[in-house]
Amino acid sequence: MRSKIVAGNWKMNKNLEETETLLTELSGKLPDSEAEVMVAPTFVNLSAAVRNLENSSIQVIAQNMHFAESGAYTGEISADMLLNIGVDTCIIGHSERRAYFGETDEILAKKIKTALKNGIRVMFCFGEELEDRKSGNHFKVVESQLKNALFSLDKDAWSKIILAYEPVWAIGTGETASPEQAQEMHAFIRKTIAEAFDASVADNVSILYGGSVKPGNAAEIFSKPDVDGGLIGGASLVANDFIDIIKAI
Ligand code: 13P
Repeated sequence: MRSKIVAGNWKMNKNLEETETLLTELSGKLPDSEAEVMVAPTFVNLSAAVRNLENSSIQVIAQNMHFAESGAYTGEISADMLLNIGVDTCIIGHSERRAYFGETDEILAKKIKTALKNGIRVMFCFGEELEDRKSGNHFKVVESQLKNALFSLDKDAWSKIILAYEPVWAIGTGETASPEQAQEMHAFIRKTIAEAFDASVADNVSILYGGSVKPGNAAEIFSKPDVDGGLIGGASLVANDFIDIIKAI
């Protein structure tokens, strides 16, 4: 059975002191939930976050990693470095990495292979831009993002994959996909995976929705049968909002 997941992507926000404060607030208020709860602070604060959450069920995940095992890649972080500090899940393919740091499908496929080879669970982000949706190409774009990054994997590898559908036009814009739009795309994603692999792979993979999820809209989005949780940006930076979103699942 697939897991329900609520993850907070903190992006380039929160210094060390703010990280500690937010984590302490979150773990103090964490409701009982069947969902896995994850937070992704910036690299420099990952170790501190792991220590802070030692006695909490909140998991610390990374926002990015490099595809090489080690070497002359100034400014980059390897799979081993993450594992070594107790981080075993990594976001890969966020639209901000694609848009601002030139991460192509080819690069992302390499990162995913390296992550899986090292036993790191991958939260793979993808989603269409506004233009694609306006021109009716959103299904085609999403299918090709999935195919290029994930369809050469072995079936077994899928137990280590979490998907996060994040339509670019909904990220940080306050404009959310409607629950119906989210459900329609999530069902399409599941069908595409079932066709490429099989029904059990498709049924067992968690597909999160991301893009302006807030306490006020989370419950309705999460109520859709193919939406298994959310990847939350802005609202994950405010303890009470993130807690309310966890409660919504
Ligand atoms: P917002 O929730 O701020 O729209 O960000 C979504 C996101 O990009 C999560 O990865």
